[in-house]
Amino acid sequence: MTTYITTPIYYVNAMPHLGHAYTTIVADTYSRFCKLRGDDVRFQTGTDEHGEKIVQAAEAQGESPRQYVDRISGTFSTTWPVLSVEPDNFIRTTDPEHMQTVQDILQRVYDQGDIYFSEYSGHYCKGCERFLTEKELVDGKCPDHQTTPEEITEQNYFFRMSKYQDWLIDHIKNNPEYITPERYRNEVLSFLSEPLEDLCISRPTSRLTWGIPLPFDEKFVTYVWFDALINYLTGIGYPDGENFAKYWAAAEHVIAKDILKPHAIYWPTMIQAMGVAPYKRLHVHGYWNVDETKMSKSIGNVIRPQDLVDAYGVDTVRYFLLREMSFGLDSSFSGEAIVARRNSDLANDLGNLFSRSLTMIGKYAKGIVPAVDEAELTEEDQELIVAVEAMIALYSRSMAAFEFHKGLQAVWEVIGRLNRYIVTNAPWELASDPAKSGRLNTVLYFLAESLRILTLVLRPVMPDAADKMAEALGMDQDAGAAVLARDGKWGGMRPGTKVNKGPQLFPRLDKKKKGQPRAQQKKTQKHKTTDVDLEGLITFDQFGKVELRVAEVVAAEKITKSDKLLKLTLKAPEERTVVAGIAKFYSPGELVGMKVIIVANLKPAKLMGVTSQGMVLAAKEKDSDGNERLVLSTVSADIAAGSRVA
Ligand code: MSP
Repeated sequence: MTTYITTPIYYVNAMPHLGHAYTTIVADTYSRFCKLRGDDVRFQTGTDEHGEKIVQAAEAQGESPRQYVDRISGTFSTTWPVLSVEPDNFIRTTDPEHMQTVQDILQRVYDQGDIYFSEYSGHYCKGCERFLTEKELVDGKCPDHQTTPEEITEQNYFFRMSKYQDWLIDHIKNNPEYITPERYRNEVLSFLSEPLEDLCISRPTSRLTWGIPLPFDEKFVTYVWFDALINYLTGIGYPDGENFAKYWAAAEHVIAKDILKPHAIYWPTMIQAMGVAPYKRLHVHGYWNVDETKMSKSIGNVIRPQDLVDAYGVDTVRYFLLREMSFGLDSSFSGEAIVARRNSDLANDLGNLFSRSLTMIGKYAKGIVPAVDEAELTEEDQELIVAVEAMIALYSRSMAAFEFHKGLQAVWEVIGRLNRYIVTNAPWELASDPAKSGRLNTVLYFLAESLRILTLVLRPVMPDAADKMAEALGMDQDAGAAVLARDGKWGGMRPGTKVNKGPQLFPRLDKKKKGQPRAQQKKTQKHKTTDVDLEGLITFDQFGKVELRVAEVVAAEKITKSDKLLKLTLKAPEERTVVAGIAKFYSPGELVGMKVIIVANLKPAKLMGVTSQGMVLAAKEKDSDGNERLVLSTVSADIAAGSRVA
């Protein structure tokens, strides 16, 4: 399979920031994931360098447009390696090949009658670099830029976009994956339910010269979008290049919601007019805010990628951005949130698992991965293999669907399971009894093999950490050559492999770490009341994810084989089964009719063969002899079953 993944080409009127970094990290991660899946991948990013905004920015800096675009484009191309982003191509709209091809396309579309000359009056937004329709204005202003558009009447060239409207509606309807997530597909279809206007594609040279001249009228240059969107084709050598033939059908664009219309409406109709096949998919994500506030220069809260990497390290930054944002929805960045994820997910869960496992292999097996003793395999081992296989399947599905947070959640479930596996198997106890060496070796092998697979699936997200993990695990494979279908199979770790403890992957970060990005330090102080301490405390957001409900006990019975567990049938308000470890403190009879409090959105778990759909809350105390007592949490007055506890 081939994959061609692109980011927007960024305007050079601003320096790279968190928003650009996110989109580009997403594309890089997807590119690496597709390689891991075995695809032949091409990944392209670049800069958009023509237009009024750029000329103004250059003037403000006292530079010529040429000097200015070279300098800022340079900061984009040097920022990507800092984030371990490795594009195969970096395109600039001032590249002569690009400019030439744009002119060729314009000429062809003009010759076939799809570009015409006309007078137009409209509301032009400089920020968007396009005319806004009456309907798009909110109180006469551009909703994105909060500025009043300029009323412009001028003669210009127009692309007959309206001609392709019906085709586009059909194409989107017939290809549910063409625009995802679904909310953006719906947004586009709703916009298309009204007649489309034709697209203004030129600027008179009397107003703007920093653009590509129209080949059929030198008094005009192209208007940004007709120039910029074509980068996706020129970057792969359209029309005759080998890469065009190879990659175009596999084109997937990643953008944020701000440029949905140009990508979901202008671009498909343009390529249709050119007689080129539609791109394969458009992936649209939401916006990063900073401490719940829109990121903007005037507020002074713009986050720079270099500052993030300096403060937290590249792997933490990449992991955080992908794990924290549900692709498609907006997210809020804060120093607290990134430190919290670093300390819990990376230092505690992954880092500890890694260092404990390798330390034990060092201590109990001289640093050599032992072989499994088949006679010592347990049900728990089998379940672990099944869980790892299920994780790979879910991870692959999620990554392919741009649901990175889900893919990572799946990986972290296995990490949690492995940490529990260490506790239940207590290798340190096995090591103290020579008769248990077969079991010890089996447990150590299972840990080493699980780490090998984790290294594989984490590589697209955290390539640098994965390199260190691979090195410590003695994985001699060429990192870029691993293929999930082959190398993700259980059993790939060769017994006899020499491992070493490796570096500490993710040291815990101090909550008030020095050198955190300045902008975010400033905001932290302002938001003191809503932000929380990191030392074991959670955010409102995190707490909001726990759904507590009042539940009425409809029935209760003992679970045979267990002296601790009761099976409760609860109304909350729908009926559900919950297993509770309260048999020693309550008889089934006294529970019926009681209103207890449950965690209602817990993943179902099997206990003694019964699936429990939630957890009952109880207070716990120990008397002076160490005996435990549980008292169920309940409500102080009658209230309907199913009421939310907040
Ligand atoms: N030059 C055009 C795109 C032309 S593509 C043919 C442009 N450039 S831009 O510099 O404004 O970049 C916009 C893109 O930057 C967004 O679509 C998104 O990918 C990224 N982001 C900019 N700010 C962002 C956030 N605050 N949050 C998330 N991504 C954002 O539009």
